[in-house]
Amino acid sequence: MTAPVPLIAGNWKMHGLAAALDEARAVAAGVGAAGARVALCPPASLVHRMSQALAGSAVLVGGQDCRAEETGAFTGDVSAEMLADAGAVLVILGHSERRAGYGESDALVAAKTLAALHAGLEPIVCVGETLAQRKAGEAIAVVTAQVRGSLPPELAGRPFSVAYEPVWAIGTGLTPTTPEIEEIHRAIRATLAAMFASAQAPILYGGSVKPGNAAEILHAAEVGGALVGGASLKAADFLGIVGAL
Ligand code: PGA
Repeated sequence: MTAPVPLIAGNWKMHGLAAALDEARAVAAGVGAAGARVALCPPASLVHRMSQALAGSAVLVGGQDCRAEETGAFTGDVSAEMLADAGAVLVILGHSERRAGYGESDALVAAKTLAALHAGLEPIVCVGETLAQRKAGEAIAVVTAQVRGSLPPELAGRPFSVAYEPVWAIGTGLTPTTPEIEEIHRAIRATLAAMFASAQAPILYGGSVKPGNAAEILHAAEVGGALVGGASLKAADFLGIVGAL
């Protein structure tokens, strides 16, 4: 079975005004012949402008969330179709900041994932345990339950990825050890294999990935790329991670 093509995606979170498009252009200029697919996920307000700025480049543009419904009276929300219309080709779903801050359940993440598929977007579905869950020895059970609950069966045969992001590693500078990452990624791979006949989806690692730790993380077993927050805001840092593959 051939390994899935790695994906390295930057999650800008709620950072970035128009001037930040220069960083995106610098990423596009520096990517070259990367051994991975490379994506940037800016705030919704920049998706259209970034997709125009990066048109013709190797860098893909994604959203950070979408509504499960296609359209309707949902003030402030953005649908998957709207992101696609603005030029996005991917979308991050079920990020822990949304699970924790907005009470997003696995069922809601699955509904959003289905909406993304209908809009032609490639979902990046995030899972990850809290520190308390890890300390209680529940990390594998929590993460595999999130995978089972957040990925609808309609993903079979469609491009998608899963991002393992331990909540305690996001934005903290802390990372699991390589064996800890591999243990969870293997459990996710086994879960995907049980859910889908052919599970070729890359499994990304996310949480305090930096140029200095990227090579070790990206070469760990069953790590098929990275979801990068803070270090994706500066082109030099992000390119350092892409180049570590
Ligand atoms: P971080 O964020 O790289 O800043 O830890 C990762 C993420 O939340 O996707």
